[in-house]
Amino acid sequence: MLLGTQRINGNGALEIGGCDTVDLAREFGTPLYVLDEDYFRETCRKYRAAFESRYPKVEVSFSGKAFMTAAVCRIVDEEGLALDVSSEGELHTGLRAGLPASRILLHGSNKSPEELATAVEAGVGRVAIDNLPEVERLQQVAVEKGVSVDVLVRVAPGVQADTHTHIQTGKVATKFGLAIVGGAAKECVGEVLNAANLNFRGIHCHIGSQILDVAPFREAADMMVDFAAELRDELGCVVEELDLGGGLGVHYVPGDEPPSVDEYAELVTGSVRARCEKHGLPLPRLLQEPGRSLVGEAGTTLYTVGVVKEIPGVCTYVSVDGGMSDNPRPALYDARYDAVVANKAREPRSTKVTVSGKHCETDTLIADLDAPEIAPGDILAVQTTGAYNYSMASNYNRLPRPAVVIVSRSRAEVIVERETLDDLLRLDRIPDRLQSNRPGRDAAG
Ligand code: LLP
Repeated sequence: MLLGTQRINGNGALEIGGCDTVDLAREFGTPLYVLDEDYFRETCRKYRAAFESRYPKVEVSFSGKAFMTAAVCRIVDEEGLALDVSSEGELHTGLRAGLPASRILLHGSNKSPEELATAVEAGVGRVAIDNLPEVERLQQVAVEKGVSVDVLVRVAPGVQADTHTHIQTGKVATKFGLAIVGGAAKECVGEVLNAANLNFRGIHCHIGSQILDVAPFREAADMMVDFAAELRDELGCVVEELDLGGGLGVHYVPGDEPPSVDEYAELVTGSVRARCEKHGLPLPRLLQEPGRSLVGEAGTTLYTVGVVKEIPGVCTYVSVDGGMSDNPRPALYDARYDAVVANKAREPRSTKVTVSGKHCETDTLIADLDAPEIAPGDILAVQTTGAYNYSMASNYNRLPRPAVVIVSRSRAEVIVERETLDDLLRLDRIPDRLQSNRPGRDAAG
């Protein structure tokens, strides 16, 4: 499975963006996150084109939580995408990277008063209200700052997408947003309409992530337009903007068949049009917030193989120099990945191995990978790690987080430095009484 600009070069090595990944591993060390810039940009363009060619008023935002760095934000801006953020940290990164605040939308199911104040002060384009108390809180912040704020109300349409339960977010029983059933969402819209400094602009939903079947997207679009009609009929308000979130799946392993962006756009825009027509509603501006489907396939993680341990008759463990600290997804969501032995990319995949990390856990990254004979020192390239890998990385077992390099046209540049061992201690403090050279230590026993 080769994705984006990946190809196998004359040395039989995996190349991305014209860079030999074995050379990248040597130059920048491993584990290493590699971002295929041209593929990421191409996907951004495809998304915009797919929606803009089918629908009159569209805005595509990159969902920053998938892979947020300052350089990634620059690309998002250059490609004319907006940004959705879900914390002060993401907001800060976007602003520092030079994105206009007006093109940033703030999400969050438990936004702190400080987050709201920072966002309002910065002048973010939209705040997506998640719950009733937030209406009052945001209204107060807006009064304090003497401004009015454009808001969306996050709705749980009651759609169950076929994906891992941890990433289903549109069910009635979700912690996100307000359910249509039972009236909570309508009540919240009513409160927003009554809040003097809040401008109700529209409604938002996000039903889940890594969704491979388009049916739930249609269901959600239909329910959201039905809800817009209900709001018009019962509260007399206009839903100018309809934000249908993200969620489109990507290829992780051979056999995954995500719908193409065109198929997805056709379905979503078609459903919204048809349903608006049915209700006699003017077409709302359509917002999209893809994360994974913009950046997932553009990322690859390079590891160096250390120990190869055969358990006769059971399996062969191939241990790499990273693991659940740089990719917690297999542990969290039973996520599956494919990988190429970068320095043996042309060799037949004649054996099966279990790729594990180096953590003090059974941190299997890939069970049953078809691979050539693997030896210590080989470079393993795990594919489709662009989304929710770097952004979910940790320092478990005090592993420094890997560097991120961006590759394009045979050029590789660091966009996030590798953490150092000293970085791991940067925030540690030892109170005086615990200093090892404290006078009288022996006497104190
Ligand atoms: N909009 C909102 C409000 C979201 O909550 C999300 C993702 C997105 C957009 C982007 O969804 P995407 O297009 O990336 O599916 N850590 C999990 C995924 C959590 C997704 C959370 N929300 C994982 O690694 O699978």
